[in-house]
Amino acid sequence: MPAPRILVTGGAGFIGSHTCVALIEAGYQPVVLDTLVNSDARSLKRVACITGVEPVLVRADVRDAAALDRAFAAHEVRAVVHLAGLKAVGESVADPLGYYDVNLAGSLALARAMDRAGVRTLVFSSSATVYGDSHPSPIAEAAPHGPVNPYGRTKSMVESMLADLSRADPRWGIACLRYFNPVGAHESGLLGELPNGPPNNLMPYISQVAAGEREYLVVHGADYDTADGTGVRDYVHVMDVAEGHVAALHRAARRPGILMANLGTGHGASVLEVVSAFERASGRRIALRIGPRRPGDAPAYWADARSAWRTLGWRARRDLDQMCADSWRWQCANPHGFDDPVPALVPGAALFQNNDRGINIHSNRGHTHV
Ligand code: NAD
Ligand code: WQD
Repeated sequence: MPAPRILVTGGAGFIGSHTCVALIEAGYQPVVLDTLVNSDARSLKRVACITGVEPVLVRADVRDAAALDRAFAAHEVRAVVHLAGLKAVGESVADPLGYYDVNLAGSLALARAMDRAGVRTLVFSSSATVYGDSHPSPIAEAAPHGPVNPYGRTKSMVESMLADLSRADPRWGIACLRYFNPVGAHESGLLGELPNGPPNNLMPYISQVAAGEREYLVVHGADYDTADGTGVRDYVHVMDVAEGHVAALHRAARRPGILMANLGTGHGASVLEVVSAFERASGRRIALRIGPRRPGDAPAYWADARSAWRTLGWRARRDLDQMCADSWRWQCANPHGFDDPVPALVPGAALFQNNDRGINIHSNRGHTHV
């Protein structure tokens, strides 16, 4: 039986490429639809190095109805994981129409194309930013939305649109996954985060300081009402997030209706705790400067992660030390991103991936599980 095909919009990106690995390891064949506006097609070659399977790439815009129809017609898509979107909060304040166009209109175009194709199983990439900054942590899915920036509002509106769709047409099976702070990299060191320009986010910035690419980390505020005064977030390993998509896909495929689920560890970590974990992982000292608070930053928030375990059978398995160790391995092996050569896979050579489910031996001739 050929592997069921899953359309992964935005699948060449940071979370999308890792999700392709998890999908392939679960027995699916990803078909990636991506404009590559914020990613590199070579990420999919890296997916092939890890899994032995290269996702099909359809270079197209999620807002392009004709391109979507062609993709559904050509690939017998079974379900959709929708990650394509713009994600920088600050940029969304400067260019709200650009964010509503891609994130909201793009999701509408995709849902309409899915309906035309008779594909009604969807996993949507939402965000903890739908909650805003007024809820005490841990934050559960029932907390009212209160997004405080255009980016968060686009995610909240798409969730509402999908909820209305689910009420109107009970054939749809939909899962909205609210990621908190995805970080880290695949344990092989072959895939990771590739920020365009100076990273806005903490983990990639720390990684570049450790590598000597940046002189020091500016800590955005050390006077918050937290244990050490620095901001607290729920960092979750990108491979845990990727595996969460597989769990959500299984649930959405089996049960009609709509489900919202937090993808987080249920624990908060401060900036200084992340710095310490990264120093342990890299053996490097991270130089710091304490700066002013960053406008728009909430002091502290983390997930109530219990619902994802109840409804999806998913929980985060990787801790902060592994997030830092995997980030550091990616940084060291790819200082120039995908411009760095992949270690040549000698025919029949294997990438060994240990995990608690045994050893997956991946080679360029498919993979076996022992
Ligand atoms: P990313 O930028 O690495 O990936 C997004 C992908 O979408 C890129 O490959 C980009 O080229 C593609 N894309 C953008 N506009 C497109 C369009 N119009 N048509 C087709 N493809 C398009 O970002 P990411 O971190 O992998 O995020 C993926 C999704 O997860 C986004 O929807 C984001 O909002 C959401 N999310 C990310 C985080 C995070 O911290 N990274 C947290 C919560 C939610
Ligand atoms: C984390 C903590 C900073 C950088 C963002 C988006 C959110 C989501 C995840 C898309 C904060 C501190 C950071 C630095 C620092 N993306 N920090 N120095 O802001 O929680 O969330 O990414 O959905 O929408 O807002 O993540 O990594 O930017 O910041 O001190 O150079 O690290 O103040 O406390 P954030 P972040």
